[in-house]
Amino acid sequence: MVFYFTATGNSLYVAKELDACPVSIAQAVHDRNNVYRSDSIGIVCPIYGHEMPELVKEFLGRSRFETDYFYILLTYGNCSGPAAELAKTYAERIGIHPAYINVILMADNFLPGFDMEKQRLLDKKVDEQISRILADIAQRKEFVSPVTEQDRAIHREFLAHLNRTGTGMDIFHDLYKITDDCIGCGICTRVCPKKCFHLEGQKSVWDKTGCISCMACIHACPMLAIRLKIPEKNPQARYRNENISICEIIAANDQWERENSWK
Ligand SMILES: Cc1cc2nc3c(=O)[nH]c(=O)nc-3n(C[C@H](O)[C@H](O)[C@H](O)COP(=O)(O)O)c2cc1C
Repeated sequence: MVFYFTATGNSLYVAKELDACPVSIAQAVHDRNNVYRSDSIGIVCPIYGHEMPELVKEFLGRSRFETDYFYILLTYGNCSGPAAELAKTYAERIGIHPAYINVILMADNFLPGFDMEKQRLLDKKVDEQISRILADIAQRKEFVSPVTEQDRAIHREFLAHLNRTGTGMDIFHDLYKITDDCIGCGICTRVCPKKCFHLEGQKSVWDKTGCISCMACIHACPMLAIRLKIPEKNPQARYRNENISICEIIAANDQWERENSWK
C-alpha cells in the first residue's frame, strides 16, 4: 500500500512505480476509517523547507498503520537538508517506526528559486534512483538516508532566516495573487488540495486560509494568471512531471469532487 501527496507530479510518478494504484493523501486525510493494514506501507511526498508537508504530517498523525514494513520516500529538487532525520523524528514522536527513509532528487518546482525551463532540461538520473530504491524496498532493507552536521546547520540557518524576516513559516501562507488574465477555467479549484479557490463569475478567488503553498495551482494555471507576490526566477515557466497528466493531479487533490461524491 502506497500513499502519496503531490503538487506537480514528481511524487506521484515515484508512487506509481511502487504501486499501480497509490492512494492520495489529500483524499485519505479525510477518511473516517483511518486504520490501514498491509504487508508494507509507503509514504511518498515532496520536501518543503527540509520537512514533510504539513498535510502529510496531519495524515500520519490521524492514521494508524498496521504493517511489518513502513517506509518514507521524500522527493526534492536541490537540497534535502536533514529531511530524512526530521521525518524519522516526527514519525517516531507519533508512534510510527519507519524501517526505511530515502530521498529522491527530481525537478525543483520552487518558483522563487528555480527556472522551470532549466529544471526540465537537467538530467537528475531519476529512474536510476527509483530503481535502486525499488530494489531496497523489495528486500525490505532497513536504512535512513544519512544526514550531516552541515545539513542540520543549513536547516537551522533557514529557520533563523525566516525568524529574522519576522514572518516565520507565515511567509509560505500568503504567496499568491490572481491577475486579470484569469478566464475562470476552474483548474485551480480542482488541483488545490486544501480547497482554497472558488469561482466568482468568470474569475477565480483565492482564500489563503489553509493554504500550504504547494504551488499546485500556480503550476497548473493554463493562463499563467496565478503569480507569486515575491519574485520568481522565470514567471513564464511552469512545471508538471512529464509522466503525469493534469487529470491525475486533479484526481489526486480535488476536494470539490470528493465532497460531492458523498452526496
Ligand atoms: C513550498 C515548497 C518548498 C520546497 N522546499 C524544498 C526544499 O527545502 N528542498 C528542496 O530540495 N526542494 C524543495 N522544494 C521542491 C520540491 O520538494 C520538489 O520539486 C518535489 O519533487 C515536488 O514534488 P511534487 O511534484 O510531487 O509536488 C520545495 C517546493 C515547494 C513548493
